[in-house]
Amino acid sequence: MVPLAGSHALITGGSRGIGLAIAHRLAREGAACTLVGRDEQRLQAALAGAPSPAHAHSYLVGDVRHADFWAEAVAQRPNISILVNAAGLAQNSLLVRTRDEDLQEILDVNLRGTILGCRSFGKSMMKRKAGMLLLAVRAHSRSIINISSLLAEKGGQGATVYAASKAGIIGLTRALATEMGPFGVRVNTILPGYIKTDMTENLKQSLLQEKIPLGRLGEPEEVADAAAFLAKNSYASNCILNLDGGLSAT
Ligand SMILES: NC(=O)c1ccc[n+]([C@@H]2O[C@H](COP(=O)([O-])OP(=O)(O)OC[C@H]3O[C@@H](n4cnc5c(N)ncnc54)[C@H](OP(=O)(O)O)[C@@H]3O)[C@@H](O)[C@H]2O)c1
Repeated sequence: MVPLAGSHALITGGSRGIGLAIAHRLAREGAACTLVGRDEQRLQAALAGAPSPAHAHSYLVGDVRHADFWAEAVAQRPNISILVNAAGLAQNSLLVRTRDEDLQEILDVNLRGTILGCRSFGKSMMKRKAGMLLLAVRAHSRSIINISSLLAEKGGQGATVYAASKAGIIGLTRALATEMGPFGVRVNTILPGYIKTDMTENLKQSLLQEKIPLGRLGEPEEVADAAAFLAKNSYASNCILNLDGGLSAT
């Protein structure tokens, strides 16, 4: 029994890190996956490592900040039943030293990009229920999973704009869960702590490990495990799921 057979997932930030781990996991659970990123070579390399059947998976090159990209993505992939918004950009500067263009880019990628994705694919998912065109796909597989961050709820020096963008994702998820639930679309968010990806490679790992109750950074596959749970559990909506080795408790 393949739990997500018949589902089609679109994963932004699918070229590497957490997004790619989620794509691999959903693919192993039976979903056809479309990876989204800006770098075609990276997407091709990511696709090469995809679980079989390889022909089920594909990619779209695009920038989540642009509404035109989302319109095109919905036109090209009208049957998406799982949307994962994992594209994200970090910050490492005190607010008073953060330039206008960097502030704007972080908000645009992390928050606006997620909002645009939810609007585009949420609309098509809601419509499908009304038209009863989804009979072949189980109802539980229609959901949106937004990747927020521990920093949305916990202070972090040098991460003000990032934290604000990720807190926005929690607000978005809560409000959207009420709007889309009646149409059978579930909306959830994961708040990862520090996970081993390109985003965290320049952080002082030993200092972080000391602060994390479980004594280590998380693996992208551990976040992917949470995403698979949210994609499959038919009663999961408005989950704000901490996955941080206990760091949020400190
Ligand atoms: N790693 C952590 O400790 C951690 C903790 C909490 C939350 N998160 C969140 O988890 C998500 C994934 O993080 P990660 O650690 O996997 O990061 P990562 O390894 O740096 O990967 C970032 C991903 O986002 C994509 N991306 C960035 N800007 C984009 C844009 N404008 N349009 C389309 N795609 C874009 C990148 O694709 P290309 O560069 O190939 O275009 C890449 O696939 C992010 O939202 C991040 O904020 C991470």
